[in-house]
Amino acid sequence: MQNRMMVTGAGSGLGREIALRWAREGWQLALSDVNEAGLAETLKMVREAGGDGFVQRCDVRDYSQLMGLAQACETKLGGIDVVVNNAGVASGGFFEELSLEDWDWQIAINLMGVVKGCKAFLPLVQKSHGKIINIASMAALMQAPGMSNYNVAKAGVVALSESLLVELKQQEVGVHVVCPSFFQTNLMDSYRGPTPNMKAQISKLLEASPITAADIADYIYRQVAEGVFMILPHEEGRMAWKIKQQNPQAIYDEMATLAEKKRNKSKT
Ligand SMILES: NC(=O)c1ccc[n+]([C@@H]2O[C@H](COP(=O)([O-])OP(=O)(O)OC[C@H]3O[C@@H](n4cnc5c(N)ncnc54)[C@H](O)[C@@H]3O)[C@@H](O)[C@H]2O)c1
Repeated sequence: MQNRMMVTGAGSGLGREIALRWAREGWQLALSDVNEAGLAETLKMVREAGGDGFVQRCDVRDYSQLMGLAQACETKLGGIDVVVNNAGVASGGFFEELSLEDWDWQIAINLMGVVKGCKAFLPLVQKSHGKIINIASMAALMQAPGMSNYNVAKAGVVALSESLLVELKQQEVGVHVVCPSFFQTNLMDSYRGPTPNMKAQISKLLEASPITAADIADYIYRQVAEGVFMILPHEEGRMAWKIKQQNPQAIYDEMATLAEKKRNKSKT
């Protein structure tokens, strides 16, 4: 029976809601984050929801901390069945204004954090014939203007997930990648970017989401049970992705118009 899950970035937002969704099925949760107060709150909520587990501080930039977490999962839970690489940060800014330090920071967390999470936990999911769930973004598929470093990091997460899907099939390790559009969480607390007003523009998009982090966690739960690889929780995201596959130029044209609008707004 599979009933042990590890979640990075579990102290807030989507990571917390994923933990709670699986906790409702009675799962054991290994909850990790750099936000220790958030983690303690998540564990309390997990227990109230019918699950249990433990918390461990872990910065996904540090491979030795992820290895320590994997070791703790073996000691405390006897292994892991599902790994959720969810921890992430927000960024924005036009390419000419983004510094190389902005790029390094974004790639280190949102892309290499997932690479390191997969690597540290691979032996455990190979042993349990478990699953890896990587949280990417619609940004990986649509490349919205004014956030190229975020788009590249998330596109890397999709490419990594596709690579693992095929490489691990024979070993009976399942792989899923989730590409949500914007939704309301604490993500903008981590925002970093040089372009004036961009943070406010992105914050408005998060607030406008028709669905919540809990809705997304529930959607992920159901799609994983059905064996769907690429999980697109927003209806509007599913439509946009369909259009892009049929007629990419239509999306590039729309994005170019959006880039112009964003540039004008960021000057005001
Ligand atoms: N909110 C959105 O609109 C949206 C859209 C698409 C994808 N996503 C992705 O969803 C995931 C979860 O984000 P969220 O929206 O729930 O935001 P959130 O800020 O509420 O949660 C992210 C968590 O990750 C943690 N974190 C940040 N850096 C970390 C690090 N170096 N090591 C360990 N933990 C770290 C934070 O402390 C936080 O608790 C992210 O990967 C994000 O890119 C979010």
